[in-house]
Amino acid sequence: MLRKERSTSPPPDEIKRRLTLERRRLKRAQANLPICKVVRGDSLKVLCKWPDYCIDAIVTGPPYGIQFLGEKWDNDVPSEELWRQLHRVLKAGGRLLVLSATRTWHRMATRIESAGFHVEDEIVWIYGQGFPKHSSKLKPAHDPIIVARKGPVSDLNIDAARIREPRLGSQSKDRWPANVVFSHTPGCTDEKCQSGCAVDLLNSQAKYLSTSKSRSADLNNVSRFFYCTRASTRERNLGCENLEKKRKATFMDTLPSNRNSEAREMANFHPTVQPVDLMRWLIRLVCKPGDLVLDPFFGSGTTGVAANCEGVRWIGIEMDVNYCRIARARTRMRKRLAR
Ligand SMILES: C[S@@+](CC[C@H](N)C(=O)[O-])C[C@H]1O[C@@H](n2cnc3c(N)ncnc32)[C@H](O)[C@@H]1O
Ligand SMILES: [Zn+2]
Repeated sequence: MLRKERSTSPPPDEIKRRLTLERRRLKRAQANLPICKVVRGDSLKVLCKWPDYCIDAIVTGPPYGIQFLGEKWDNDVPSEELWRQLHRVLKAGGRLLVLSATRTWHRMATRIESAGFHVEDEIVWIYGQGFPKHSSKLKPAHDPIIVARKGPVSDLNIDAARIREPRLGSQSKDRWPANVVFSHTPGCTDEKCQSGCAVDLLNSQAKYLSTSKSRSADLNNVSRFFYCTRASTRERNLGCENLEKKRKATFMDTLPSNRNSEAREMANFHPTVQPVDLMRWLIRLVCKPGDLVLDPFFGSGTTGVAANCEGVRWIGIEMDVNYCRIARARTRMRKRLAR
């Protein structure tokens, strides 16, 4: 078993033997779990009933604790007690990836660390299109993603998460992934970006700064980073065609002058739907095909949609009955989203 951290590594045969034992044990521990299902309930209560060391990785966008659009569930970041339960069910060497907000990430990271995780890194997800929430605040343009690990050092799946670089030709490897991710604006296509798109702004500035027209200078632009689009209306509603549409709250609702603005009705009316491509990349980084990933704050189920696309099994826990319905409908759409 890999339960204790060690300073010296054991011989290769011993590592192989332990890995085989660990795989068998994981299979047994997972036998009674609701695999590829959405569990309705409070994560803390649900997790208390699960065995130790039964999950390969945890990838989640939890409440940020910023009272987003006045949502009650967003009053605080998850408690240390909940992170402790997540630490218990995660396998040794397993990873936890947690989206957070610039205003509260420190509290999130402290609770994660106090629960027993090693906080290893932070991925910065830049989107450049948030709204300033108040005249005394800066416009949000990135979310920090906390990278943490349980117990012994283990490798990230660097090769699976490499950045496509077609211009390097078939001889070279794709680029080593960095801890920065950029989002295109919804509506950007391969040919043209929408105005104000963060990727486009950075690319054009890099080209402006580059004095040489040589190929190597061209490669200095930001295409070395991972890009994804923010969740488009089509992406968020895919699979929800038969669900009742409801009013989706937006930032405009929080402005006194916009209280009566025309509401947008949507089948997936979850206020914080994350992009499938971002979740796919995060899952690739910490899971191999066939692994089991847990999202204890499943919302409209984006992590499940992304896991389906990557051939990874998943479990989602969500306390809101309406969001569970949306998540079930979206995660059934596996084939239409898989590339
Ligand atoms: C930021 S959202 C997740 C969004 C999701 N990643 C998506 O793309 O739709 C957080 C979700 O956690 C749920 N939640 C908050 N506290 C919870 C708890 N203790 N147990 C289960 N779900 C919880 C909320 O209802 C909300 O839907
Ligand atoms: Zn773009």
